[in-house]
Order: sequence, then C-alpha cells, then structure tokens
Amino acid sequence: MRAGKFITFEGIDGSGKTTQIRYLADYLESRGFEIVLLREPGGTEIGEEIRRILLDMRNQGMTMEAELFLFEAARAQLVRTVIRPTLERGIWVISDRFHDSSVAYQGYGRGLPVDMVQSLNKWAIGETQPDLTIVLELSMEARNMRLERRQDSGHKDRFDVESQAFKQRVCSGFRAIAQEEPDRVIVIESQDGKEETAKLIREQVRRNLL
Ligand code: TYD
Repeated sequence: MRAGKFITFEGIDGSGKTTQIRYLADYLESRGFEIVLLREPGGTEIGEEIRRILLDMRNQGMTMEAELFLFEAARAQLVRTVIRPTLERGIWVISDRFHDSSVAYQGYGRGLPVDMVQSLNKWAIGETQPDLTIVLELSMEARNMRLERRQDSGHKDRFDVESQAFKQRVCSGFRAIAQEEPDRVIVIESQDGKEETAKLIREQVRRNLL
C-alpha cells in the first residue's frame, strides 16, 4: 500500500525545475515529511548507465524507437526498485521528470505515435502514477537566456542541441497533457521570479496533497 505522496516536475530544459524542486523539498521537510529526490533518466545504477547512453553526443545515430525503449527501461527499473518501496514506507518522492517527458519529447517532439508512448508508459509504471505533476513554463526568450549562461560552463548533451522547433513541440506536448489530465497536472508560469513560483507550487501541493 502506498503511504507517501509522489510528485513529478516537468518542463523543458531551463524552465527552473531543479531550483523549484529544492524549494519544495525544503518546505516539505520543514513540515516534517521525509523526502526522496530522484531524476529521470537515472536514479538507479542501471538507470544512470542508460542515462549516459541517452545523453551521449556520440550517439547521434540512435533511432527514436531505441530512445523511447531506453527511457522506458530506466523508468521500469526506477519504479520497481526505488519509487514503490519508498512510497510504501511512507516517504514522499519528488522526481525531476517522469513518464510525461516521454509523451512530450518522444511523442510530440520526435513524432512517435502518442498512444504508443502512453501504452509503453503504462507498462513501465503500472499503477505508480504521480499524485501531482507540476509543469513549469517559461517563455522561449527567458529560457534561452538562462541556458546560454549555463552552457558556457558545461558541455551540451544530445537533447540540448535539438532545434527550437523541437522544443516548441515538446512545450505544446506538456500543455496537451495538462489539458487532458487537469486533476493531476498543473501548469505554472515561472517568469515572476523564483520565490513567487515556489509560492504557487506550495499552494498547489497544500491544496491537492496535504
Ligand atoms: P537532463 O540533463 O536531466 O535534462 P533537464 O535538465 O532538462 O531535466 O537530461 C534529460 C534529457 O532527457 C532532457 O533533455 C529531456 C530528455 N527526456 C526525454 O526525452 N524523455 C524522457 O522520458 C525523459 C525522462 C527525459
């Protein structure tokens, strides 16, 4: 039986997920909840190996079908070996990305059939659906400015070098998911600053989960 709550954060790269996850985890811990933070792909030894393959710039020849299966493989491992046992112990799980990213990136972004991605998601996660999903939205201009700053100091992965058109399709994918599942998925605009965004997220968590 599931006792902890499961929250996922989604959105395109540069939308501020990492910062907001940290704020929310601090808030929930201050209220006495135990929290485990995860990221996808990754979060297990096998998942981290798969992550390396997925992000590696040398793997430009990867087909979109192979890409989807690798994300689902990492997810299947994470759900069974980490997420379910953690929730059963009454610990909350917050994941930086989860199954909605496959619908948005491999479905809307790459153009794989969305119903196919959804069935593979179903198979990988079973009943382990998030209780709440926060999709962070930021205007293309604001995001590009943040990313330019960040990428000066780091190296690019296979998704960073995708076109603006691809990223636009991914964003519209997240919006479509939110429209289809309004009870689970909440879109939050993050242009009004970190603190303001964190406040909006806390309100959603309080309203839906506490
Ligand atoms: P990461 O560095 O974690 O990106 P971010 O900081 O944007 O979260 O890299 C993960 C990349 O994988 C990211 O560009 C989104 C992509 N992705 C998919 O295409 N499908 C998926 O199912 C998941 C989980 C991630």
